[in-house]
Amino acid sequence: RLLIIDFGSQVTQLIARRLRELNVYCEIHPYQNVTDAFLADFAPKAIIFSGGPDSVTREGSPRPPKSAFTLGVPILGICYGQQVMMQELGGLVESGHGTAEFGRAFVTPTGTNLAILDGWFTEGREQVWMSHGDHVSRIAPGFEVFGTSPGAPFAITADVKRNFFAVQFHPEVHHTPRGAKLYENFIRLAGFTGDWTMASYKDDAIAKIREQVGDKRVICGLSGGVDSSVAAVLIHEAIGDQLTCVFVDHGLMRQGEAGEVVSMFRDNYNIPLIAADESELFLGELEGVTDPEVKRKTIGRLFIDVFQKYADEIEGAEFLAQGTLYPDVIESVSFSGGPSVTIKSHHNVGGLPEKMGLKLVEPLRELFKDEVRALGRELGLPEKFIGRHPFPGPGLAIRCPGEITREKLEILRQADAVYIDQIRKHGLYDEIWQAFVAILPVRTVGVMGDGRTYDYACALRAVTSVDGMTADYYPFTHEFLGETATRIINEVKGINRVTYDITSKPPGTIEWE
Ligand code: XMP
Repeated sequence: RLLIIDFGSQVTQLIARRLRELNVYCEIHPYQNVTDAFLADFAPKAIIFSGGPDSVTREGSPRPPKSAFTLGVPILGICYGQQVMMQELGGLVESGHGTAEFGRAFVTPTGTNLAILDGWFTEGREQVWMSHGDHVSRIAPGFEVFGTSPGAPFAITADVKRNFFAVQFHPEVHHTPRGAKLYENFIRLAGFTGDWTMASYKDDAIAKIREQVGDKRVICGLSGGVDSSVAAVLIHEAIGDQLTCVFVDHGLMRQGEAGEVVSMFRDNYNIPLIAADESELFLGELEGVTDPEVKRKTIGRLFIDVFQKYADEIEGAEFLAQGTLYPDVIESVSFSGGPSVTIKSHHNVGGLPEKMGLKLVEPLRELFKDEVRALGRELGLPEKFIGRHPFPGPGLAIRCPGEITREKLEILRQADAVYIDQIRKHGLYDEIWQAFVAILPVRTVGVMGDGRTYDYACALRAVTSVDGMTADYYPFTHEFLGETATRIINEVKGINRVTYDITSKPPGTIEWE
């Protein structure tokens, strides 16, 4: 396996992505954790030093452990990683006037061939993405220059004997269009054959779960979402009926959703499942609540209470399974430090394990969202289920601005079902990252037949996104919008006006609350 030492770049995750795409198994670890002992234990076949925001010229800035250079494995240093490599091996890095470089640049070869550059330069030069304040002003002994750019005379350097490679630019980003080729050459040189597949991941994960859990019992909270479902099915394959799932229906699910989840897990997979209909409790406590944060906090608190109540009934449970993904894990590393503002209190079962004295089983910790989907396919989960749009923990509560009533929830469910049906019929579901209806806390006047109506207005939302952090509205055709509005108004009693939300994120958020 390959080790990525994270020096805090915003794009470290993308290095892992590129390598996974090449079927190489890798792990990112923050530099603070990578000690000599850690390295000896991890025994990487190759190492990548990521970029990072610090300056190697600053006293106390992050460093890799010295033993990284004596393990005898290939190392690739990127940006900060390149500079730190130079500095540690006897070169010189300076910050100074006019050497900062941000954005597109072109690297040209210096004439000598280098294994990791095989087939890389296409038209005598190659576009790369630079983002650096400091620069290398003297390369370390043993290194030679293989590529230069106007702002970085040492854009690509290498110590060919030791297989140390150092690049000033970021090969992992989209704006270095042929960056994947560099990674490919690097991993081939390091001896990776690219045989890491989802099937092998599944087998490894099952073995790990068995080893971790032994003969103890595991509880898994199902939300109906892809992550917790894949985690549950995987764990069930590993330990069978030592697993019990708990599905809490908070009365804020979409049309038919609660029933689907229960029947799929109970009937298709034979997984022991406690289905708790707690809608009375949740909707009762939410009565009269209009503030979005109060809604979220109320739901989060009740969820923990209820989950705990059911978990207490499962005798001898020692583990709690969670569908934590890689981005959740890594964000806390790369983005730590900055004081950030809470936009929304996210609802998850974060505080649960400590409160309940349970240990965690997180079999998806190393995976990205699309890899979880691939694993789901490997486990035979239905495609319709795997490709589902994300659905927030607080459910329809945050798609119902103002007071939540049963009547409004029912109208919302019906409108949402028609809208999603339209999207599926037009073959747009997979192109859209997330789509839903929000019911607005206003009634407006309309005319239907010869009569006056005074009903709710609703807003359709559909966005494209990669990770939910930023998003753009989906450009439906006017025909689609018109047809959908007509269907909703005709088929859903209680709605007489349909609007389309064309706000991107930022400045909007995807959900309405
Ligand atoms: P926003 O509205 O913040 O949403 O732009 C970004 C993505 O996160 C989902 N979301 C949540 N997911 N618990 C979740 O599990 C939550 O509390 C929550 N709030 C928002 C939202 O559906 C979108 O996909």
